[in-house]
This record gives sequence, structure tokens and C-alpha cells, in this order.
Amino acid sequence: MGRLLALWLGLSLCTTALALDLTAQEQAGKRLYREGLASGDAQVVARVGVSDMSVPASVLPCASCHGNDGKGRAEGGVRPPSLDWQRLSVGAGERQANGRSYPAYDASGLARAVQQGIDPAGNRLDPAMPRFVLSQADQRNLTAYLKRLGEERDPGVEDSVLRLGTLLPGSGPLAEAGRVVRAVLNDGLEQLNQQGGINGRRLQLVVLDPGADLGSASRALDRLLDQEGVFAVVSPLAPMLDERLAAALERRGVPLIGSTPRSGPSPQIFDPMPGLLEQLLSLAVHARDGLGLPADGLRVVYADAEQATLAEQLRQRLQQAGWSVPAVQAFTGQAPDAQGVVFLGHAHAFGQLTQALNAAGRAPLLFAAASQVAGSLPNLAPQWSQRVFLAYPFVPGDWTEQGRARLAGLHQRQGLDARQASLQVNTLCALRLLSEALKQIGRDASREQLVRALEGLHDIDTGLTPALSFGPGRRQGMAGAHVVAVALPGPRFAEVAPYRPLPDTP
Ligand code: HEC
Repeated sequence: MGRLLALWLGLSLCTTALALDLTAQEQAGKRLYREGLASGDAQVVARVGVSDMSVPASVLPCASCHGNDGKGRAEGGVRPPSLDWQRLSVGAGERQANGRSYPAYDASGLARAVQQGIDPAGNRLDPAMPRFVLSQADQRNLTAYLKRLGEERDPGVEDSVLRLGTLLPGSGPLAEAGRVVRAVLNDGLEQLNQQGGINGRRLQLVVLDPGADLGSASRALDRLLDQEGVFAVVSPLAPMLDERLAAALERRGVPLIGSTPRSGPSPQIFDPMPGLLEQLLSLAVHARDGLGLPADGLRVVYADAEQATLAEQLRQRLQQAGWSVPAVQAFTGQAPDAQGVVFLGHAHAFGQLTQALNAAGRAPLLFAAASQVAGSLPNLAPQWSQRVFLAYPFVPGDWTEQGRARLAGLHQRQGLDARQASLQVNTLCALRLLSEALKQIGRDASREQLVRALEGLHDIDTGLTPALSFGPGRRQGMAGAHVVAVALPGPRFAEVAPYRPLPDTP
């Protein structure tokens, strides 16, 4: 057993052996840099601000400001500069940061900056940079590591290859969806590679099968993130991981471009599509402005305990938008009494809701997200015609000539058709965002830079959706949805309100 484990560990070390080879001293310096921990038992203290308040360095490690990659930050006024040793030490000329100008650093100059907050020209560093109380040994470790920091590469970044990863089921109910996403990803990466890749690197995709249950999916995720050495994750299909995914990515700093999990947004996850909440709020805007519903005319109804929190969040957002909404109602077969009902839940429950309303002789206007309830439409009774309004993140009217050509090319090369079109568009958008951000960060790529570049993407024209925009606190590319009315029998669809970003999104 022990030997097996050792063997297995040995194997997994082999696959990540591309990571930087550090001496014991440099390793200790890395721990200090990233976690604020000393080599011995003593605690490292950081003195902070003008008042010199003492806090453990583990609360404020260097990496928390300068980044794991040491590249510093672009936003803000006084910003942590890049700690690239090349920049700090090589050559005789003056260098600049935050309006200071100073000659090259050497080891003792670095120690003075870190411990006393003074640069090689004798300038006082801004008090936003703490002063650290370090033993000589710790300072030596730190310096040794800082000299190597510039060579440190995130997993998946090799000389001629950039490795991406995803989880796609090969069997079970999501197998067909998995096949489609795989085809779109392979096709997109192949197109990029034919043009020479990105920044001189070929893009490679590692696909693992999450299997059928939480256990197998968790193992696949851990393997993808810890052993396969992937730089970022793109468009995985593993809904059973929804509760785990964000924490797993955050712990390792791995960015993901794809759908927001049901547990909510995460700083590491960039989603081309709008959140459910924003989609439903767009419907409410139409209910008021287009259909003239009075301020007390809406009620929030949900099916599945899973949706309860979201339903309450929706009610609060509606209140903020000027609606007066009674307590949210769990649907258990009864017919709600309201002029308009905003519904959260799956398609089957939506069908049951219309039946309960039919039986009670009530016919309110119904509002829901197409992604949740579209499956129920073919079975709706004809009296619901023009009374059901659905939120769609994009409609074929968004497709430009270029967008259509891209889809047609994909279909032809990969043998796909219009089935799973929204999954295709979703995946194409994710790839578009990823490649745009990768191009921007250049060859010296780190995960932290990728996250910052994704945050900086604005008004990205996909040719298939409304323009996508992100920001420091914004992780969903669209802030709202188109409103589409459903005519029955059919169903037939007519857009009644175009996508307009909700006003109060950053
Ligand atoms: C709370 C945020 C924060 C932490 C933690 C932090 N720094 Fe800084 N650091 C800064 C800021 C802000 C500056 C810019 C100060 C200025 O330009 O006046 C800076 C400047 C520096 C400089 C000067 C670079 C130059 O170009 O002159 C060095 C060197 C440095 N930090 C190293 C470190 C090291 C090593 C650690 C960990 C032991 C660390 N910093 C921790 C915020 C931080």
C-alpha cells in the first residue's frame, strides 16, 4: 500500500515536473512569498500603514499584492510594481515605479526595501507596501526566490504548447451534449493552431470524463487540476460538481471560461451568458414597460428547494426595482393568484403549474427563463398562447453574417447541425473570450494575468450574441436577456423586447 502510494505520487510528480526546479532555500523563500510563513517556528510580522500596525505576514503575504506571478497590478493609484528580478537588478540605468526613479537593486537594496520601505535611491516607499520583520535567513530565502520568480510558470505553459482542460461526459444523458462541446472546442483550437496558435504556442486540450456521479466527477476534477497540468478550464459539462467547482478552482487559482455553476458566480469563473436572475429581471422590465403590469402585479413562484434562495434574491431585486412583491411561493400543486407569475424551476414543474392554473380557471401572464422551461412548451394548452414570456440570452436576430458563417463552417467541418445550437454558441463564445484574453497577455502568460485580461474584456463582438462585457466585479458577459412571446399551438416565437443590459449592473 505504502509503496503503491509512493509510486502513484512519483508518477503524478513526473507529470508536473515541468514546474520550476527550486533549491530548498528557494522553496522556503517561495513559502514566505506566497504564504507569509517563516522557515522556522517564528512568525513573520508585517508592519502596515503609516501607523506601523503589526499583523502576521501570513495575512498579508507578498503574493497577495504583487501576485503569485510577481507581475504586480495594473489598476489603482499606488500599485505594487513588478518584482521581476530582471527589471529590478539588471543593467545600470534608472528604473521607475509610481513616480519614483532609482538605480538597480542588489540583495541588500532589496532587504532595505522589504524591511525598511526604502528604495535604492533612498526614496521612501508608499506606506501601502508593508515593512517586514525578517531574520537574516528568511531574508536570504526570500531574495533567492525572488531571483527565480520571473522563471516561474503556471502549469500548462510550456515552450511551444499551452494546455487547456475540460470535463465532458462520454456516456449517460449528457453524452450527446458532451460530443457537441468537444467538437466545437476541437474545431476552434484547430483553427487557432492552423494560424500558428497563440503567442507562438499551440493550444492543446485535455478532456476527462466526469463519469456518472459526484465521486467520479470529483476525482476527474482533481486529476484535471492537479495532475494534467492545465492552465485554464474551458466549457466543462459536469453539473454534479456545481457545489464544488468554484472552491476547487479558487484554491488553485485556476480560471474557468464557461457556465456559472448553480451555487452562484465565482471570481475564477467567466461566463459568456447572463445569470438567471438578470434574465428574469429583463422579463420584469417588459412586464412593466411593455405589458403595463402594476407595481403589485407580480409574484415569484419556484419549484425545487434548490431554487428557494435564488427566488428570494429575485424578489429583493424586484423590490429594489420598484415592484411590491409578496413573499416567494413554493409551488406544490396550487394555483397562484396574481396578474403575473415569475417562475423558477424545471420544465416539468412549469407544465404542472399551467395545469393547476387551468384547473383553477386562472390565466396570469407567465414569465420564465427559456433555459429552464423550454422543454415544456410543446405540451402547453393553447389558451396559454401569448401569455407565456421567455428570456433568451440570444436570438437568431443577433447573428451577423460573420457569425452565421462561423456556425456554418463548424457544422460542415464537424458534422454538426442545428441541434444543441445554444450549447454550440455558448462554447464558441467561451473560446472567443479565452483566445482574446490569451492574445492580450502575451507570451509571458500567467493565470492571474488571464483573469485580469478577462476582466478587462469589453464590448466583445461574438457575431452570435449581444456584445459581451466583463469587469472587476462582473463575471457574466451579458446583463439581461431578450424577451420572447410564445404563440400556441406550435410553439412559435416572436421577440417582443430586445436585449438591453440592466441599468444597475457594473
Ligand atoms: C499590502 C500590499 C503589499 C504587500 C503585502 C507587499 N507589498 Fe511590496 N509593494 C506594495 C506597493 C503598493 C509597492 C509600491 C510602493 C511605492 O512604489 O512607493 C510595493 C513595492 C515593493 C518593492 C519596491 C519595488 C520597486 O520597484 O521599487 C519591493 C521590492 C517589494 N514591494 C517587495 C515586496 C515583498 C518581497 C513583499 C513580501 C515580503 C511585499 N513586497 C509585500 C505593496 C505590497
